[in-house]
Amino acid sequence: KRQKLAQLRHINSLANDYFRNVFKYHNTAARARLYLAERGLSQETLENFQVGFALPNWDSLLKFMNKQGYRPQAVAEAGLALKNENGRYYDRFRERVIFPIWDVTGRVIGFGGRVINDTTPKYLNSPETVLFSKGHLLYGLHLARRSIKEKGYVIIMEGYMDVVTAHRYGITNAVASLGTSLTREQGRLIINYSRNVVIAYDSDAAGVAATLRGLELLQEIGCQVRVVNIPDGKDPDDFLRRHGYQAWENLIEQALSLIEYRLRQAIGNKPVRTVSGKLEVMRQVFPSIAGIKSDIEREESLKIISRFLSSSPEAVTAEFKRFEANLG
Ligand code: CTP
Ligand code: MN
Ligand code: MN
Ligand code: MN
Ligand code: MN
Repeated sequence: KRQKLAQLRHINSLANDYFRNVFKYHNTAARARLYLAERGLSQETLENFQVGFALPNWDSLLKFMNKQGYRPQAVAEAGLALKNENGRYYDRFRERVIFPIWDVTGRVIGFGGRVINDTTPKYLNSPETVLFSKGHLLYGLHLARRSIKEKGYVIIMEGYMDVVTAHRYGITNAVASLGTSLTREQGRLIINYSRNVVIAYDSDAAGVAATLRGLELLQEIGCQVRVVNIPDGKDPDDFLRRHGYQAWENLIEQALSLIEYRLRQAIGNKPVRTVSGKLEVMRQVFPSIAGIKSDIEREESLKIISRFLSSSPEAVTAEFKRFEANLG
C-alpha cells in the first residue's frame, strides 16, 4: 500500500518533469508557448507554476513512462492514461497546456490541462485518485501560504489562470478552488492559514451563485468573508491584465461584506420604495442573518439592511424577530 502511494507520487513527479520539458523545448509546443506569452505570462511565472505541455499524440507520455519502467496500467492508476474498448491504453492529456497541482507541501498530486484553441472541454483535470481529490485542495496554496499569513488574508479565485496572473502581479495570497463550488474541506484548509477570506470569483451567473454558497459556507465555519465585485462578468485574470494592480487594490478595498453583497444582489441598483418591495428584500437576506453567530455582527448587519432600505433599525429588527420566530 505504502509502496503503491510512493509509485503514484513518482509517476506524477516524472510526468511533471516530462510535460515541463516538452513545453520548454519541443517544436510542437511552440503554439502553446505563444499562447501563454499572449496571455501575458513571463518566463519566471511559467517556471514558478511549472507549466507544461502535453503533445497531441495518443501515447507520448505512455512511451516516456515505459522508458522509466512504468507499465501503462500504472500510468492509468495515476490518472494519466485511459483504456479504450479494445484494451489499449492512451494518454489522458493530449494537446493541452498542463498546470501541475500540488499539495500544501509542494508535491505534485495531479494535473489540469487547458486546450490552446476553442475545443471543449476547455479544462480537463486528473481523475480522483488516492492522491488527488479536487474538493480537498486549493490550487496554489503551497505558493501562497507564507504570503497569506503575512498579508493576513487569503483571496479565493476560480481558476488556474486567475491565480497564475494574480501571482505575476504580486498578489501572492491568491488560491483557486478549481471551479465554482467551494467545499467544506477547502474551507477548513483555508482556516489553517487565515480566517479573513476574500472571494473573487468570476462575475458571471455561475460565479455569483457560487459566491453566495461560498459566503454561507465560510461564514458557518467562522470566517470573516468579503466579496470582490469584478465589473462586466469578468474574472481576476481578465481584470488584472486590463486594469492592472492599482485598480485591483481598489476593488479589494471596496470588497463587500456578506450582507452588503446579498443586499446588492437582491436590490440591484434602484432604490426600494414600496413596502412590499422592502419585505421581499428582507425575505431574501434574512436567512443569511440567521446564520450569523455573533450578536454584535448580527446587529450591525440589521443596521446595514435598514440603511439600504431607508427603514428604521427598530422596524427591521422587529421584522427579523418575526422571521426567526417563524423558523421555529
Ligand atoms: N474548470 C474545469 N473544467 C471546465 C471548466 C472549468 O475544471 N470545463 C475549472 C478550472 O479549474 C478553471 C476554473 O474552473 O480554471 C474556472 O473556469 P472558467 O472561469 O470557465 O475558466 P478560466 O479559468 O477563466 O479559463 P480561461 O481564462 O483559461 O479561459
Ligand atoms: Mn468561471
Ligand atoms: Mn467561464
Ligand atoms: Mn479566465
Ligand atoms: Mn474565469
